[in-house]
Amino acid sequence: MLMTTDQAREQIAILTKEINYHNYQYYMLDNPTISDYDFDMLIQNLIDLEKAFPSLVLPDSPTQRVGGEVTKQFRQVRHVNPMLSLGNTYSESELSDFDTRVKNGLQVNDVEYVCELKYDGVAISLIYNDGRLSQALTRGDGVQGDDVTVNVKTIKSIPLRLHGDYPSQLEVRGEIVMPHGSFNKLNEEREQDGESKFANPRNAASGSLKLQQSSLVAKRGLDFFLYFVYGDHQRYQTHSQSMKAIAAYGFKPVAYIQTCANINAVFSFIDYWNEQRKNLPFDIDGVVIKVNRYDYQEQLGFTAKNPRWAIAYKFKAERVSTKLLSISYQVGRTGVITPVANLEPVLLAGSTVRRATMHNADFIKEIGIYQEDTVFVEKGGEVIPKIVGVDEQSRKEGSCPIEFISHCPACGTQLIRNEGEAAYYCSNNDCPPQIKGHLEHFIGRKAMNIDGLGEGKIDLLFEKKLVRSVSDFYRLTYADLLGLAKVFLSDNDTKERLISFREKTVENLLSAIDDSKKVPFERVLFALGIRFVGENSAKKIARHFGSIDALSTATMEQLLEIDDVGEKVAESLLSFFAEEKNKKLVADLRSFGLQFECESKSDTLLSDKLKGMNFVVSGTFSTPERRKEVEQLVELHGGKLSTSVTKKLSFIVAGADIGPSKLEKAKLLGIPIITEEEFLHLINL
Ligand code: IVH
Repeated sequence: MLMTTDQAREQIAILTKEINYHNYQYYMLDNPTISDYDFDMLIQNLIDLEKAFPSLVLPDSPTQRVGGEVTKQFRQVRHVNPMLSLGNTYSESELSDFDTRVKNGLQVNDVEYVCELKYDGVAISLIYNDGRLSQALTRGDGVQGDDVTVNVKTIKSIPLRLHGDYPSQLEVRGEIVMPHGSFNKLNEEREQDGESKFANPRNAASGSLKLQQSSLVAKRGLDFFLYFVYGDHQRYQTHSQSMKAIAAYGFKPVAYIQTCANINAVFSFIDYWNEQRKNLPFDIDGVVIKVNRYDYQEQLGFTAKNPRWAIAYKFKAERVSTKLLSISYQVGRTGVITPVANLEPVLLAGSTVRRATMHNADFIKEIGIYQEDTVFVEKGGEVIPKIVGVDEQSRKEGSCPIEFISHCPACGTQLIRNEGEAAYYCSNNDCPPQIKGHLEHFIGRKAMNIDGLGEGKIDLLFEKKLVRSVSDFYRLTYADLLGLAKVFLSDNDTKERLISFREKTVENLLSAIDDSKKVPFERVLFALGIRFVGENSAKKIARHFGSIDALSTATMEQLLEIDDVGEKVAESLLSFFAEEKNKKLVADLRSFGLQFECESKSDTLLSDKLKGMNFVVSGTFSTPERRKEVEQLVELHGGKLSTSVTKKLSFIVAGADIGPSKLEKAKLLGIPIITEEEFLHLINL
């Protein structure tokens, strides 16, 4: 379809409006009115149009939500209004003192307060100029913060454009949090990829906001809770009115908020949420109490650090004491040893705790724990129980300090510790828990996706010596499996379960194993479980090299050419492919029919004239199809496409209307800009 720039502009405006409406229904009102599929089609239409007419991409286009921009360093920007913090208290009597100070300061007998939850995340200031989100800053030192606008734009509950009768200059503040669901999913993925887990959702939210690649932020499932507005004080008399009205500008309606006629009502709000917070899908660490009337807030003003009209009441983390029974040492897939405390079962924040992580050897030393000590346990970030201290008073006479083990609990190999790392490793790759970890990783949903081998079954196949390497899955026969059975006791469970391979189970498993032979190369590469090669990097590496043969013979420099591949990953790949055992594994898996080449590349390459070259194709060509053809030609001749202008680029193929920022950056980096004809000349067409 041929389209003029004006027609495209009009179509983009229509699509943008429609998509914004559906986003609002879905993310703000929790009330979707079209199917996910129809919504995805609208987004795809807009993406296609924006690709064909890059100069028409608006900074607040809904497509910007998926991210794409890469930031090397976040710019430090001064806050328009300094970002102060709140005074804290843990005690009700100090809260009564606050109430007295407020009343004395205002010389009144009664003050209305607003109570809100104290969200445990990262504070953010959002500036809207003429209704468009123009800047998002972290708190920083309160005077200046980091400009994380590109990353914040990927958070769906933050509107990019406001509705209704908004003030032309508006600053809103709130907290960016990572809900428990997103947090658990992220940590699961990190564990699978051999990366360290985030200790709590706050750290995960803060780490996510500082990611250099905004497309990764988009996948982190962050949410936003608004708690303050500047620019509204002339319109409304109170904070609660402002909070109520903010939904009319396109923000998510403010929930978990209550006006309280006096301090006693504030205490009730606190008691309620102290009890109920365990049922919230995100972390809070207290309640914030604010004087409701704006004129009162102004009268009270600020101390050097805090407003006098607000205070944070922090919940005491629920802490219990219990007895340390023993310490188990778990061996992960990559050989890392994690000490885990086995505790006398104790009730904590609504669930029974039997085990708590002890992190590593340094932690054990730091808290100075002895055998059979009584320990204090809290829920870190309200999710994972952790030991926070030791009750030395109740220590048994004659008990000895806990020494970290020196040899692997599973295979007896002496443990090693790399310089600068907290973890001890078992370096024996044949250590059973490492092998089992590898087997579990290999069959995982994002790897070979072999269903039907849940907890216990892998153990059974391993014990029966049927599967000792991932290639053994492809040697399994019906006769091997039928009738295998075992009573299984899971780590987190006290109940015994019988697991058995009956006819249907065996049939399903064998067919899932067979289906896995069609899994594309990028997932096979991830499934191999090479240290530091996560799902995303596997995808990039596979697409870059196109086949395991090209990858296994690549040099350090060639590996480092890939975005996202640093020395750590490159070294890990080199040492993987240097090992005879791994070469044999790849050969075995190949003989069973697994995919070790990317489909498109191997079959259809016309030439390798553009091998090693990176291209950006941008601007308007004679037709949108023409532009697609140029892009296809790049790939068909062995070149690679990129969307952003970086110094790794070889050429920009520029159509009309190419964005000025791209041009400027290309000139700055000295990247040649060529026309469609010059490009065709390059490949002798
Ligand atoms: S009001 C000028 N309200 O708690 C006062 N803060 O030190 C502006 N926080 O890091 C803050 N929930 O990010 C306010 N409902 C809430 C809050 C809240 C969390 C954070 C805030 C800041 C800290 C207060």
